[in-house]
Amino acid sequence: MNDVPAQPKRRTRGAARLLLGGACALAITVSSMALATFARADLSGPPGATLKAAAERSGRYFGAAMGADRLNDSGFLTIANREFDMMTAVNEMKPDATEPNRGQFDFRAGDAIYNWATQRGMRFRGHTLAWHAQQPRFWGSLSGSALRTAMIEHINGVMAHYKGKFAYWDVVNEAFAENGSRRSSNLQSTGNDWIEVAFRTAHAADPSVKLCYNDYNIENWTYAKTQGVYNMIRDFKSRGVPVDCVGLQTHFTGGSSLPGNFQQTLSSFAALGVDVALTEADVTNASTSQYQGLTQACMNVPRCVGITTWGIRDSDSWRGSENPLLFDRNSNPKAAYTAVLNALNAASTTVPGTPTAPPTTAPPTTAPPTTAPPTTAPPTTAPPTTAPPTTPPSTGQPGACTATYRMVNSWGGGFQGEVTVANNGSTTLSGWTVRLTLAGGQTIANVWNGINTGTSGAVGVRNAEYNGSLGANTSTTFGFLVNGSSSAAPGGLSCTSP
Ligand code: G3I
Repeated sequence: MNDVPAQPKRRTRGAARLLLGGACALAITVSSMALATFARADLSGPPGATLKAAAERSGRYFGAAMGADRLNDSGFLTIANREFDMMTAVNEMKPDATEPNRGQFDFRAGDAIYNWATQRGMRFRGHTLAWHAQQPRFWGSLSGSALRTAMIEHINGVMAHYKGKFAYWDVVNEAFAENGSRRSSNLQSTGNDWIEVAFRTAHAADPSVKLCYNDYNIENWTYAKTQGVYNMIRDFKSRGVPVDCVGLQTHFTGGSSLPGNFQQTLSSFAALGVDVALTEADVTNASTSQYQGLTQACMNVPRCVGITTWGIRDSDSWRGSENPLLFDRNSNPKAAYTAVLNALNAASTTVPGTPTAPPTTAPPTTAPPTTAPPTTAPPTTAPPTTAPPTTPPSTGQPGACTATYRMVNSWGGGFQGEVTVANNGSTTLSGWTVRLTLAGGQTIANVWNGINTGTSGAVGVRNAEYNGSLGANTSTTFGFLVNGSSSAAPGGLSCTSP
């Protein structure tokens, strides 16, 4: 018998309505971005008295999710400000909220949350860009390449607005079924590669933010869905698809509970080279042992970067009747809060790459060494007589790269292509340009990992900022979507460098 029961029943009433609703198409500018300030990791320091202080000892964060309606709730805001250093919007950055009508973006509610949080030194997790639920109404009348293009345009539009501002983005949310196969959805029907296209698009739109896949019921290592997601991430990493992190929602419901192998799940994902995070934690009746266990599992895995609870008080929860959060309706911390705080303070691993505190030990008082300087004679070896290397300078030369095309996927009305740019030479190339000619009636809708000139006929694609340097015998790829009735391969492929 499977010991991971189904996800708690979802609320199914229509799409979320933005509190600041209306069909306004204005994309307002984020007013400010305060720099998040974080203590250096210091496991030997005093225990933290708040969730964020305790998490920061090991270079981690402790986050919460909030809706725009909480911006007027002083009880909520007081705890959020005191205890949390990462924020996520519950509904306000989902596709239906940010692009209610095609090409008309509305960031007012999301920006209000973002501004409140970052002005208080918090960082931000974006949630979410592509999901089967809470889609803009207009996605419902699209399919195939038209829906694919709408998804790409959505990712580009939202990520452009928040470019450089978030720590993490949930690019794709909940794309797997319980049996480990892909969940059927309108996005899945555009082709199995829709997730990788979403990640490539997101990476091209904002290379600075960490891009996450986020899902529920992937906490038990032996569960089919966990394995399905794991295999996808392993495949993505092996092919260079830009995925940086996996979010495990960690909703433990009345029927499910913390699996004994949770830490193994976290460390197995992390071993693929991604960060892991607990992104929407809540536990029925706030079981102290489960909260303690899920926190400790994260603390034991160096690349587990932080924990977010889906709300703060039970009255904020989508599962409010189960009282699953760390604070009760009167804003009092529960026993589970103390369990989490203690587990954070007991962390024995730090997040790799986190600056650590300088040693606080007093400088040594020992006298400087009195050892005499070495008397060994300098080496008498004759200088090498080998002729200087005749290798050409390590800049690219025209024609030194090759370009190879493959079709990734096609559908009535369009296809996705990929070009591999290879440096088969022995010196590094600094920059490349591929030229290709599209068949009549074909138009490029989107290019990622490259910058195009022209969208039909003769098209040039040069490297993006981050993939121009190609070492000897290495390659990179760029991808593109084409609209058109034929999926004929582009002709006249050539590559030059720089
Ligand atoms: O704002 C309207 C309100 O005007 C209306 O009166 C009311 C009654 O229908 O609905 C309100 O909108 C609701 C919205 O939450 C805001 O409260 C929607 O009906 C409701 O469907 C929506 O639920 C959200 C749910 O995602 C939708 O799938 C929850 O708040 C939100 O917590 C939840 O978050 C998800 C994560 O994104 C992904 N993981 C699971 C998690 C929990 O389901």
